[in-house]
Amino acid sequence: MMNVGIIGAGHIAEKAARTLSAMDGMQCLAIGSRSEEKASAFAGRFGIPRAYGSYSALLEDPEIDLVYIATPHSCHFAQAREAILAGKPCLVEKSFMLNAMEAASILALAREKGVFIAEAMWTRYMPVRQMAREVLASGIIGKPTMLSASLSYNVSDKERVLQPSLGGGALLDLGVYLLNFVRMYCDSPIRDLTTSCIRAGSGVDASEVISFIHEDGTLSTVYSSAFSQGENTGVIAGTTGYLVFDDLINPTCLRICRKRHVVEKEIPVPEQITGFEYQFQACADAIRAGLFEPPQMPHAETLYIMHLMDRLRAEWGVSFA
Ligand SMILES: NC(=O)c1ccc[n+]([C@@H]2O[C@H](COP(=O)([O-])OP(=O)(O)OC[C@H]3O[C@@H](n4cnc5c(N)ncnc54)[C@H](OP(=O)(O)O)[C@@H]3O)[C@@H](O)[C@H]2O)c1
Repeated sequence: MMNVGIIGAGHIAEKAARTLSAMDGMQCLAIGSRSEEKASAFAGRFGIPRAYGSYSALLEDPEIDLVYIATPHSCHFAQAREAILAGKPCLVEKSFMLNAMEAASILALAREKGVFIAEAMWTRYMPVRQMAREVLASGIIGKPTMLSASLSYNVSDKERVLQPSLGGGALLDLGVYLLNFVRMYCDSPIRDLTTSCIRAGSGVDASEVISFIHEDGTLSTVYSSAFSQGENTGVIAGTTGYLVFDDLINPTCLRICRKRHVVEKEIPVPEQITGFEYQFQACADAIRAGLFEPPQMPHAETLYIMHLMDRLRAEWGVSFA
């Protein structure tokens, strides 16, 4: 049994707890919150055996095998650092850190201490990723030449999304999935980048559009907003057809079209608990195999995306100060 300890009793921690309670070979052993009452209430709701009124107390529990960090982006660095120094393997929610400097420092510390760490970019761990790669390799849509995707939720009522000091903004919350989508399905390096953003009153990026031209001539265009409810799909267009992800971050099927809107084939995604189970399982497998990073989301890729996000914010003149 792999025992997971969750740090932060918020929104996504609930989904993680529900997922873990339905998995074989893994369980949520403890929840850590800044408030003892909140931790106890959370533990009660999800049948979690141990509730801690501080994150440090959870890190001291010798029976925790994996710490899942589910707090605002601005907290990830200090919490991951403390977990690594306590020798605890960590799965850190996206976006991994606030910027590439923090990410490089944490990855170096984890390497130095020989502690496993991974980014919880759940789309990287899902079976649909391999399924889509197989569709592309089969040649059914011809040569892929264009990627487009969007991800927008109206999360503008969330403090952690609005506040620069909490690492807010659409990019770290939503746009990060779009960058991962591009990197997962286009192997060609990015040559040119064009982007613009609309800022919220608080100064964070509220909505943005990003285009890449890749070295092999592929075009990727993605957009996201933290102020709109979008359709949230992804399309990979090739020379003879296109592949549709009906939901960018949690697809139910892949749809292959050869002519406009004529569906040639639909490939259903395997039944799942929530889709979060794959990232937890990947961590368990990697830790048991003695690895320090999961093959599905290597550290180099996490760092690459963090650098790309730094570059985008620099283009927009957006900072977390
Ligand atoms: N994978 C996904 O699908 C997905 C979806 C949404 C969010 N996320 C990611 O998950 C992380 C958390 O997002 P969330 O939506 O769960 O956030 P949330 O509902 O605001 O919860 C965050 C939790 O972090 C703790 N926290 C510690 N310091 C805090 C501070 N200064 N301000 C506010 N909360 C603080 C709080 O827990 P305590 O009060 O218990 O200490 C809070 O409940 C982010 O990295 C986000 O990008 C992932």
